[in-house]
Amino acid sequence: MDNFNFYSPTEFVFGRGRESECGEYVKKYGGSKVLIHYGGGSAVRSGLIDRVKSSLNASGIKFTELGGVQPNPRDTLVYKGIELCRNEGVDFILAVGGGSVIDSSKAIAAGVLYDGDFWELYSGKKVEKALPLGVVLTIAAAGSEGSPNSVITKEEGSLKRGTGSDVLRSRFSILDPELTQTLPAYQTACGATDIMAHVFERYFTNTKEVEVTDRLCEAVLLTMVKETPRVIADPDNYEARANIMWAGMVAHNGLVGVGRSQDWNSHGLEHELSALYDCAHGAGLAVIMPSWMEYVYKHDVNRFCQMAVRVFGCQMNFEDPEATALEGISRFRSFLKSIGMPINFAELDAKEEDIPALVDKLGVGSGKRAGFVELDYNDCVNIYKIAVNAHI
Ligand code: NZQ
Ligand code: ZN
Repeated sequence: MDNFNFYSPTEFVFGRGRESECGEYVKKYGGSKVLIHYGGGSAVRSGLIDRVKSSLNASGIKFTELGGVQPNPRDTLVYKGIELCRNEGVDFILAVGGGSVIDSSKAIAAGVLYDGDFWELYSGKKVEKALPLGVVLTIAAAGSEGSPNSVITKEEGSLKRGTGSDVLRSRFSILDPELTQTLPAYQTACGATDIMAHVFERYFTNTKEVEVTDRLCEAVLLTMVKETPRVIADPDNYEARANIMWAGMVAHNGLVGVGRSQDWNSHGLEHELSALYDCAHGAGLAVIMPSWMEYVYKHDVNRFCQMAVRVFGCQMNFEDPEATALEGISRFRSFLKSIGMPINFAELDAKEEDIPALVDKLGVGSGKRAGFVELDYNDCVNIYKIAVNAHI
């Protein structure tokens, strides 16, 4: 196991009705004038925004609001948010929504205190400070409620870029599984796919002897395989929703990936798809991740066999381990299909002729992307090509 620091300072507030406590938590973490930031309308329609406002009023917290965050959140709204916060003297951001809303909130939180164009913070410059931030989560997916990351799309040129800093970690995150019951099945499945991908990106490692994190990863993956079909069949299943919501946090706050090298190439390849086609991040991952697995599995057949046997219940074929590894990947892809995810370019409305543009935007150039297996320009092209024709 490699040396590591594990830092996850967020206070997680979990359970039914807990959003009614958000005013108290804003106060606890020093907010006096809040920006309530939310998405395209689901949180308004469900009455959640009104409940959040009541809670802030009850705690004597002033607020202003900015809705309209789109999935794959855009830089244009971030600029508006920064200006609004500066004009109104906002000292705390409250994100009410999913990963897109949280990431947009993080960008505003950093941008308000940055003396320059906030996009520089998504182009290599380190985020040193940010306004404090709280979250009321409405979808189990991106894990941004516990992560130090934020991903924003620059409208001009459709550039999707991320940044990460501990100052972007939420002070508190309220996780009420009941809030996720209004999600359409497709969004629930996209979220589940993203959660599994966050674990797989850590599971496929070159670090040896990492039994405890291997087992933690497998526990989260097994939970997702069991609970996702349950919520697709019965959207009001609170217990299954609760398990998925906590799995989404655990998958991405760092815990299951400590002390081991990781691989984020499926995310990198996917971000170009959601930037170009504006598809859901989870849907893009469903197309890319099994394709990436097929391309790299020979690098460590045993690790893929371990996944196949422990997560997807395959029988180990000792005569032909590669067959077991491939069976595990095939079962993963079938699982994604069974929960309603696309598994190839056509099902995502992506086009084979765009592959050179996708790889160019990745910016690999003549170099290599680090990971479980290093990828050069041609490797990236080949993985996209597998994804074009993927089938069950
Ligand atoms: O905008 P509204 O109307 O709220 O609708 C949203 C949106 O259309 C809807 N929704 C959310 N909660 C709902 C609901 N509809 C009904 N009932 C509810 N309770 O769901 C749609 C998707 O929302 P979004 O926030 O985009 O989903 P998600 O949480 O999957 O976030 C995706 C974004 O997060 C980034 C992705 O790249 C993508 O931009 N990621 C962020 C990460 C991070 N910060 O750590 C890591 C991830 O790997 C990921 O890259
Ligand atoms: Zn993700």
